[in-house]
Amino acid sequence: MCGVVGYIGGKNAVDVVVNGLKKLEYRGYDSSGVAVVKDGQLQIIRSVGKLKNLEENIEKKHLKSNISIGHTRWATHGKPSEENAHPHADPTKSIVIVHNGIVENYAELKSDLEKEGKEFKSETDTEVIAHLIKKHYKNNLLFAVQESLKEIKGSYALGVICKDEPDKIICARQDAPLIIGIGKGENFLASDIPALLSYTRDMIFLENGDIAELTTSRIIITDIENNVKKREVKNIKWDYVQTEKKGYKHFMLKEIYEQPRTIEDTFMGRIYPDEGRVYIKKIKLSEKDIKNISNVYIVGCGTSYHSGLVSKFFFENFAKIHAEVDIASEFRYREPILNDRTLVMVISQSGETADTLAALRLAKSKGCITLAICNVVGSSMSREADHVLYTHCGPEIGVASTKAFTGQIAAIYILALDWAWRKKSLSKEELKRYLKELWEIPVKIRNFLKESGSVREVAKKFAHKRNFLYLGRNVNYPVALEGALKLKEISYIHAEGYAAGEIKHGPIALIDNDMPVVAIAVKSKIYEKIISNIEEAKARGGTIILIASESDKIALDNEDSVIYVPDCDEFISPILSVIPLQLLSYYVAVMLGCDVDQPRNLAKSVTVE
Ligand code: AGP
Repeated sequence: MCGVVGYIGGKNAVDVVVNGLKKLEYRGYDSSGVAVVKDGQLQIIRSVGKLKNLEENIEKKHLKSNISIGHTRWATHGKPSEENAHPHADPTKSIVIVHNGIVENYAELKSDLEKEGKEFKSETDTEVIAHLIKKHYKNNLLFAVQESLKEIKGSYALGVICKDEPDKIICARQDAPLIIGIGKGENFLASDIPALLSYTRDMIFLENGDIAELTTSRIIITDIENNVKKREVKNIKWDYVQTEKKGYKHFMLKEIYEQPRTIEDTFMGRIYPDEGRVYIKKIKLSEKDIKNISNVYIVGCGTSYHSGLVSKFFFENFAKIHAEVDIASEFRYREPILNDRTLVMVISQSGETADTLAALRLAKSKGCITLAICNVVGSSMSREADHVLYTHCGPEIGVASTKAFTGQIAAIYILALDWAWRKKSLSKEELKRYLKELWEIPVKIRNFLKESGSVREVAKKFAHKRNFLYLGRNVNYPVALEGALKLKEISYIHAEGYAAGEIKHGPIALIDNDMPVVAIAVKSKIYEKIISNIEEAKARGGTIILIASESDKIALDNEDSVIYVPDCDEFISPILSVIPLQLLSYYVAVMLGCDVDQPRNLAKSVTVE
């Protein structure tokens, strides 16, 4: 996934674009570039590596203009290099583009263009678009882009400028997010909200098939046949400062500490524990609709898949409805049995993950009821699903997802309790109790975070280990998976999450004192079971890092460590038991000198297959 930014107006366009790219660097950061039109000529600067390398190059060349497009890259076709970095120009250097997405038929397009004698400078799929626009250009850039897109299959968020039409930017969107920012005497373009927030809150979320022309005073949106489209202007309430680190060393740490508030923001106005009631205004499913649902499929990737595994317990124990959880890249190709009595719930922080979006579209094609749990207003999934339930976590910038995970769990917990109320599958007293448990969670997390020094001590003790095993059972088995994912994706240490009851079926062979075992053993109905699994591991020389309930003064050996979390009901316990695991991975990664917010090889949202 890459970041695209564009500007046309009275400011120095290069400054605006580079500032915007900085806010999007989490989307990809192996190379970057900007292009401007200046004195009738295109000027392009590109750099490999972090954005600061591009800034140094721009500084040297004193690049200034009132129109510019820019790009920060996460490579899909062609290695990270200057010639593969965007922007890409046509051979005559009169048209230049930036692109997020994949041109799926680029090989045949490239071969046809090469047969026409066109020469290519890069290994990218994007370059074919520049060639096509030039081919169709007859002094009308909008028309040239419309004609070119008729030949392209795949996904794109596109920005295009031309030296012969220096008063406009053309942009287009298909299956990759693109937002227009509206200013006074200026207009903006970006892949995501944070890049625009310091300039404007008035935004248009382009839809699939939209092609727009931006000048300093006008925005025209058309389709590929030049039919004019009307799009709503949204005023974004996000606090711009939310996209800043606010004194934290990393976005990830800030987002871990934001969780009390983001969980509160997610349930506030939706739950009333004293009444035992949930009110979710945006989801228009009646009692009859809910009673007619035969089963639920829960689909996501990575951390969102893990929160899906937790939510299965809510649907089955609260709403008494069968729920199956699937990884999106598996679900979309395994021909699941789907019909109009199936509800497919997709979970995605970004709302743009390609596999999850494809799963949503498959479900819609089969007539299923679809529901999206998303964190980004206006994202593809939030617009394409029949119903959307937003987590109100604010922008999650750190590539390692933290507050989105707990926000998703809180949102789905509420949803399942709402269904339980409507289906009368829980008593009034049970509803009040479960809602009160969620209501109290933010204070419990705040209290834990105040005492999180113990986590740093544990990190210090084990940061040099090269393999970890994470064990959990029941509703905390997904937390073991999530804790392992956090550690491996930011510290590059091998970590494996496992159902604790499974270790005697193989993994116990791995255990020795060089492989710490992180075990989640908070109070629950299967507490004794997990304790006996821990004993099995200890008996084989395993060193234990225990996540335990603070009321459980469990006896441990000296070499073991314990991190206590506040007591709570077991169903809501994943929201608490994951916090020490998030912090553990964070501190280990920092101690190892890893790039916590932008780990190697990763991007914040994988908008390509
Ligand atoms: C989690 O820390 C990772 N960044 C990754 O697994 C992520 O959860 C996954 O790519 C799904 O992203 P989404 O929630 O935006 O769909």
